[in-house]
Amino acid sequence: MKLASRKVLLVIGGGIAAYKSLELIRRLRDEGAAVRCVMTAAAQHFLTPLSVGTLSADRVFTDLFDRNDEHDVGHIRLSREADLIVVAPATADLMSKLAHGAASDLASAVLLATDKPVLLAPAMNPRMWNHPATQRNRATLLADGISFVGPNRGEMAEAGEAGEGRMAEPAEIVAAVLARLGTGPLAGKRIIVTSGPTHEPIDPVRYIANRSSGKQGHAIAAALARLGAEVRLVTGPVALPDPVGVGTTHVETAAQMLAAVERALPADAAVFVAAVADWRVAEAAAEKIKKVPGTASAPVLHMVENPDILATVGHHVRRPRLVVGFAAETQDLLANGTRKLERKGADIIVANDVSKGTGVMGGERNRVTILSAGGAEEWPEMSKSEVATRLARLIADRLA
Ligand code: CTP
Repeated sequence: MKLASRKVLLVIGGGIAAYKSLELIRRLRDEGAAVRCVMTAAAQHFLTPLSVGTLSADRVFTDLFDRNDEHDVGHIRLSREADLIVVAPATADLMSKLAHGAASDLASAVLLATDKPVLLAPAMNPRMWNHPATQRNRATLLADGISFVGPNRGEMAEAGEAGEGRMAEPAEIVAAVLARLGTGPLAGKRIIVTSGPTHEPIDPVRYIANRSSGKQGHAIAAALARLGAEVRLVTGPVALPDPVGVGTTHVETAAQMLAAVERALPADAAVFVAAVADWRVAEAAAEKIKKVPGTASAPVLHMVENPDILATVGHHVRRPRLVVGFAAETQDLLANGTRKLERKGADIIVANDVSKGTGVMGGERNRVTILSAGGAEEWPEMSKSEVATRLARLIADRLA
């Protein structure tokens, strides 16, 4: 019962994902939370106040100008009495209202009137999610200190549609609520983590990649979430599941990774674990490059440098308070790592030896040296998940 005596106000927006809100209410109450619900007019097309009220064991609030409600619990009291407001599903319309300060119905008025943390679980068609207007609203809301869980990638309710826009699962939303209300040392802190390799296209079927598995980065994201942080993981293509309780964005190229990281700012800390390709093919071919029989036609690839994501964020106007990078080296670990600390504007560099034979790239174990202005600290060889746990504790100490 990690949420005993905590009060959650759940705003249910109008979307097909609203059916998952019933399960969310049940899970929040299983953790001991008192759940009070506000439903928009649109939400009532998908769920009835009766079913929501039965599960929450409380009155359900639907109208801004309900005389009785305004008498005993108006929108100001509704928003102030909660420890946290969760909006699930958060529709494009609700996000837009909140980003622009509208207060045209009870749900938006409650959100505008609150001084409590707000957590949004967006759910909408992928095109609506990816529309520049929605992405602008999302950036505005993030800058206003509002947290997000999801949306996830996957099948949509509409037949044949897939993409980013599925509402996070109730278990993930509960994990995000725990992170926001929990008591872990990183509760209330937002941390960005990059992980995995990047894929740089040569043509539609070929790409340049590296041996990174994402194991270390994903383990760090999970370890930070366990300490209560709100984690935004930006990962290249990996064969790992998204860590539970972590907001995950999937990208392919270095340019996409940089854009996703910048969208996730501001943050309290950022940890750059991804093995970002240093170069990309200057102009990926639009069509598959064909062999020309009988000629010596092997293509010559012209490469250009990729943006350095760590260095960009290390020198950013919205630089997180703590910036952590990795240094994958095959020689002169300390000297090269220390140079990266300065050049990339990092506070900590986790240096590891990735020479052939160490088995670090793709393997389960790691041996790292922590470099910072305070000097070098060598950690013994341990599993990647132990490195992650220790690094998460170090980050919690540095942010304390
Ligand atoms: N990194 C990054 N963007 C890049 C290249 C690297 O964010 N385009 C980050 C990595 O995530 C890591 C750190 O920078 O945290 C160091 O990566 P590494 O590959 O060791 O350094 P490079 O800058 O690529 O230097 P070199 O390859 O010359 O050793």
